[in-house]
Order: sequence, then structure tokens, then C-alpha cells
Amino acid sequence: MTIKHIATSPIPGMKPGTSGLRKKVIEFAAGNYLANFVQSVFNAVRPPQGFGGCTLVVGGDGRYFNAEAIQTVIRIAAANGFGRALVGQDGILSTPAASCVIRKHNAFGGLILSASHNPGGPDGDFGIKFNAANGGPAPEKITDAIHAESMRIDEILTLNTPAVDIGRIGSQRVGEMLVEVIDPVADYVELMRNLFDFNALRAAIAGGLRLTFDAMHAVTGPYAHAIFECELGAPAGTVKNGTPLPDFGGHHPDPNLVHAKHLLDLMMAPDAPDLGAASDGDGDRNLIIGRGIFIPPSDSLAMLAANAHLAPAYRNGIAGVARSMPTSAAVDRVAARLEVPCFETPTGWKFFGNLLDAGRITLCGEESAGTGSNHVREKDGVWAVLLWLSIIAARRQSVAEIARGHWAAYGRNYYTRHDYEGLDTAAAQALMKTLGELLPRLAGTSVGGRGIAMADDFSYTDPVDGSVSQNQGLRVIFEDGARIVYRLSGTGTTGATLRVYIERYEAGPALLAQDTQAALADLIATSRDLARLNEFTGREHPDVIT
Ligand code: G1P
Ligand code: ZN
Repeated sequence: MTIKHIATSPIPGMKPGTSGLRKKVIEFAAGNYLANFVQSVFNAVRPPQGFGGCTLVVGGDGRYFNAEAIQTVIRIAAANGFGRALVGQDGILSTPAASCVIRKHNAFGGLILSASHNPGGPDGDFGIKFNAANGGPAPEKITDAIHAESMRIDEILTLNTPAVDIGRIGSQRVGEMLVEVIDPVADYVELMRNLFDFNALRAAIAGGLRLTFDAMHAVTGPYAHAIFECELGAPAGTVKNGTPLPDFGGHHPDPNLVHAKHLLDLMMAPDAPDLGAASDGDGDRNLIIGRGIFIPPSDSLAMLAANAHLAPAYRNGIAGVARSMPTSAAVDRVAARLEVPCFETPTGWKFFGNLLDAGRITLCGEESAGTGSNHVREKDGVWAVLLWLSIIAARRQSVAEIARGHWAAYGRNYYTRHDYEGLDTAAAQALMKTLGELLPRLAGTSVGGRGIAMADDFSYTDPVDGSVSQNQGLRVIFEDGARIVYRLSGTGTTGATLRVYIERYEAGPALLAQDTQAALADLIATSRDLARLNEFTGREHPDVIT
């Protein structure tokens, strides 16, 4: 029987324009916090004829509170009249797999439970977001509607039913709704099999191509075991930390050089495997390291774009590429040479959705270790590893050879991101406001010996639907093409995080071996001076350098 709970509005922490919620577990688990969000989503997206013929996909990265949250979502979905729910077994669906399942089963949409690369466990973070029928994060039109509903929600519809057994594959009923517990891996593996030449990869691995993949005790474990070890025949042990744990083994499931330092160290050894890779909490990010060489995500995107034709799915070339604004312009050069369009979007995967749906791009990516293609509407960590493997196998070259060849052919965009974390929110906002006011006066002046060509607050007009997104980051572009970008993180859960992105292009091969921080030293100093960073934040150094 449907029961009605009194809802709380507004939902603390709900902001317009964000595709979901990310908070501490304690906040999520308290009262009806999660239920308020789920009901707000359903209120915002309910079709005129109701949800009767609609399928909802539900799954998450297995972090603490995942299983409880899934039961809550199922009951509310049933009470709101959904015809069917597809739920990953044990509540597991990586974010790209959820996108795949939504698309393959023509679902109405999905609720994905994850706080991505943020730590898990009882003291960690939890999150939820709504993906639409194209399998991608809800666009701003929908997220704004969800936010509006969260401001006026007054009741939550739910059922008083026992918990569904999400460990058992098969069908069950919850109220009138059919709940199908599905294998979380099968649809995704089938999709990868269609994109890549598994026979060629299997042969390359049998012939000695070596891979190590760190699932970081997060969601990609089962996918990586199934694909790299079972399908492609890589030896057992290729996949490390392959069992998803509610607290990610106490680690931070962020595949960067800080949290996956052990992988970096391993890959710097002379006898390292050919490819070292890792993925994050929900499986959408990737870290790519060759023997003796780390490939920065912006470069990885460019190298994948330049070589994508070596995998069957992209054999006929790519329609175009897109990158988020703060991502380095390395891929722009590849697009120019391939004579395909290159779009510059705001930060966040949702901005790629329209371009992908319209067939205007095939590959896209962000500097924050997200790379993907038109096969789903999320970034995809395991896919990125498979595309790299395909390229290594087809070219019969090492990652280092591929990278050096790329830089020699296209030049190199030296690039770094400096993060200042846990800042006082008011201080960080004041810094951005002051810098924003300074920008209009900067063009034509010079700083640190470099002439400034333009400076603005990035605004994006979606080429497909014409929607405009403003205030997407402050950028200072120099006459020599160098660039500094400032933005406040939208995903942090404590205080404010200022991200400063610094980039410079070098055409000659002379600097190929130079250390990135050294190559950018003068611009880094300029980035601090321009924003009066020390004065506003009191910080002498960034907390994280990537
Ligand atoms: C960060 C990344 C951004 C990515 C997002 C979700 O957002 O910078 O590229 O889309 O996580 O994975 P931010 O914290 O910078 O707002
Ligand atoms: Zn993620």
C-alpha cells in the first residue's frame, strides 16, 4: 500500500544546475534526505501519462549505504507508478555500465548511486544522480526542474514493502512494479566486444602484451576481471584490488598520481608491464601510465583521437571531438589535422550529451581523467583502457613511443592543474569575484613578460539546442597561446576548492623531456600573482598538483 511521508523542502545542499547530490553519508542517511531527492526527480520528470510504461535503471558503485539506498529508490519508484526497475545484482552498476543499460533497454532513465572518486565508508561520501533516456547525466533543463521541485516538494510516495533480494538475478514484484535484478557486467561486456577486436587483443596478450589494472576496490573490479582476464586471457592477478568494498579498503578511489602512487611507482620500474591503468569509485575515470611514462588525460584524449581508427568502432574515422574548456588544447590540433570539428564545452560530462546525440562528435574528454565516446553517454574508464590496448596492439609500439611520436608530430601542450582545497568558501568566492572584475581590463596588457590576448568568464552556447551556460570559469589567454583558467570545484564536499589550470604550447622537440612543472614555472607564478592567491587564501602551495 502506498504511504505518504512528509517531505522536507528545500533539500539542504541542492543547487540548481547540478545533476545530482553529493554529501556525507551521515547527511544522506538522515531522515528522508535521499527520499526527498528521489521524489523531487520523479516530480520533475513525470510524463503526462505517468510512469506506467517506463523502466528505471538503478545501481551504484557499491559504496557504504548503496544497498539501503537502492531499497529506498525501489520503493519510491514503485509507489510513483514505474512499470519496471532494472537493478544491478548486489546493487552494482558502474556509471558507464548504467548508461549502457539505460540505452540498451530503452529505459526512461536511471538513478546512479555514487560519489565517484570521493572516499566511501560510514564517514565518507555518498551521492545520487539522475540520467536521462539517452543514458547521460540530466541536462540543465532537467536539473533545474529537479531543483525547482526540491523547493516545493511536500510529500514522498513510498511503499511499506519488505526489502528486495538484490543478490538474486531474476524478477520480483514490489507493489505493481516488476523488479528485474540483472547481471551488472553482461550488457557492458557485450558492448565492448562490439567496439573492439577482442580476438586481436587476446592474440596480443597471448603474444606478450602485459597490462596491470587497479580497480581500487571500487566498482570496475567485476568488469575488469570479466574483460581483461576472462575475455582477453590476461593472467589472473592482472586486475588488482578487484573486489568492490563499501569503504574502498579505506582508500581514496581516485586514480590520480597521489592516490594511485603505487601504480606509478610500479610503472616506472624497468620491468614494468606495457600498460598500467586504474579507474575510480564508479568506473568512469581512467589513469593511463605506460612503462616509464605517465600520460596526462588531456594528452591521452588527443592520442586516442589521433589513433581511434585502429579500433573497429572508429575504423571509418571520427565525426568530431569535444573537450571541456579547462582541458588542454592538445586534441584541438588532432581535430585540425583530421579536419573534424572540435568543441569547447564547460566542465562536466552533461555538456557532451547533445553533441554526441546529434552525431557531431565521436570522442570527448576532460582533463580530470574522463574520456569517452558515443558508445554511452558517460565517460568510461575500462573503455579508455581497451582503446589504449587496441592502439598499442595495432601499432606494436610502447606507450612511450606512441606519446613521443605524437608530440613530435603535433607539438606538446605542457599542462598542469593546481588545486587549492578546503578553502574558506567566502575567501574563495572573493578571489573569484575580484579576479572576474579585473579580467575586462587585462586584454592588451602584459603580465610576467607575456602579452594577454583576451580574458573572460567562459560562457557556452550549446550548438545543438542553443541553451546558454554562463560563469563557467575565468580564463586568461596569452598572445603566445598559453592559458590560465580559474574555477571553483562543483563537486567538493568540504569548503571550497579552487582549481587553477595552466597550459603552454611548445612546437619544437627540444623540450620533450622537460619536467612539466619546470616547463610551466613562470606561468605558475603568474597564476598566483594574477589572482592574488596568497592574499585571499593564505596558501603558499597547492594541495594537489596534477
Ligand atoms: C570534477 C572535474 C570535472 C568532472 C567532475 C565529475 O568537477 O573537474 O571535470 O566532470 O569532477 O567527475 P569539479 O570538482 O572540478 O567541479
Ligand atoms: Zn567517477
